[in-house]
Amino acid sequence: MRPLHGHRVLLGITAGIAAYKAAELARLLVKDGAEVRVVMTRSAVQFIGPMTLQAITGQPVRDALFDPVHESAMGHIELARWAEVILVAPATADFIAQTAAGMAHDLLSTLCLASAAPLLVVAPAMNQAMWRHPATQANVALLRSREVTILGPDHGEQACGDTGPGRMVEPALILAALRDRFAGGRRLAGRRVVLTAGPTREALDPVRFLGNRSSGKMGFALASALVAQGAEVVLIAGPVTLATPVAVERIDVETALQMRDAVFTSLPGAAIFIACAAVADFRPATVAEQKIKKATETLTLELIRNPDILSEVAALADRPFCVGFAAETHDVETYAEAKLMAKGLDMIAANQVGVSQGFEADDNALLVIWNGGRQALARQSKPQIAALLVNLIADQFDAQTAT
Ligand SMILES: Cc1cc2nc3c(=O)[nH]c(=O)nc-3n(C[C@H](O)[C@H](O)[C@H](O)COP(=O)(O)O)c2cc1C
Repeated sequence: MRPLHGHRVLLGITAGIAAYKAAELARLLVKDGAEVRVVMTRSAVQFIGPMTLQAITGQPVRDALFDPVHESAMGHIELARWAEVILVAPATADFIAQTAAGMAHDLLSTLCLASAAPLLVVAPAMNQAMWRHPATQANVALLRSREVTILGPDHGEQACGDTGPGRMVEPALILAALRDRFAGGRRLAGRRVVLTAGPTREALDPVRFLGNRSSGKMGFALASALVAQGAEVVLIAGPVTLATPVAVERIDVETALQMRDAVFTSLPGAAIFIACAAVADFRPATVAEQKIKKATETLTLELIRNPDILSEVAALADRPFCVGFAAETHDVETYAEAKLMAKGLDMIAANQVGVSQGFEADDNALLVIWNGGRQALARQSKPQIAALLVNLIADQFDAQTAT
């Protein structure tokens, strides 16, 4: 069953430049099984045509409070009662101010006041100065104090040329938040997930090692996102300086061989295996017992291949749902597709790495590929992108277990 099947979503659209993104949001909601009714402010129709939303949702779009046609059919109070959730995206500074003040001067603000829907979700979008203004901040704080969920805004380049907070969060993230709320955040309840994260270190001598730039931030964010979905998470971490996410069982390892042992020890009963660690492909053939001295002009190291943990897990007869990561400096998509096929994975999340990209960074962009589908997840914070990826994993895992 589709995650939002039968849920009644009233989508409010207000007059911001991001209104064009509301069409994509409506499409995602409908695709997810939701019943969607759109209410636009009078000014919002300057930014996106109601006809677009009507075509996507298959329902008339409303923008007037004093509407003799609709008041004789589903009037504003019935519409307020009908809604299980009121989702306003984009939400202007003006809408936020009106809602904070409890105003009811147009259809959308009246519905917000008349609705007993426990869930009002708002995705602000505005110029960074408008967002930072103490009036907006006070209004947002008021809404939060009334348990309104505020999603975002994102930080970045704005249509007006400024850079800063105020971009509407991506429609996929809004969808994921709604799914979470309706599923009670338990899409993976009772599922055991084994996850690797961080780098490995391969010793050369007692003080030196071969390593890589993985910080572990993506894997740790994934561990938190998995717990938020009710999963029982075993996190096998290479050497990183990150705090253990709440409710996660953590096993610290150093080398690829230790990571492999920890994975196979933890695997029994696991429904999902996610290989997010940057495991060294090679290790020194011998580890010097004493510190290697600089006695010669050149030093040749002999390296031997490490086991490929993900391939080994994916080749098991009774294997979990396997998710790999591909960090590439070029031709990301081609390499990711090849890795998905060659290792027989269920899903791969690919990202471009390089200077200030991927490794060590606080944000990430991913191209997620599975058999028969793909989705690009735009650049955003690692916790946000982790929540989206976990939703995609849950989708494909559900699809596989349903067949
Ligand atoms: C071109 C243009 C773009 C605008 N973009 C935004 C925006 O992104 N966010 C915002 O809060 N207001 C924006 N405004 C101002 C709102 O449209 C204005 O406050 C309007 O009264 C909001 O109406 P509503 O809240 O009833 O939809 C914009 C105005 C113009 C003319």
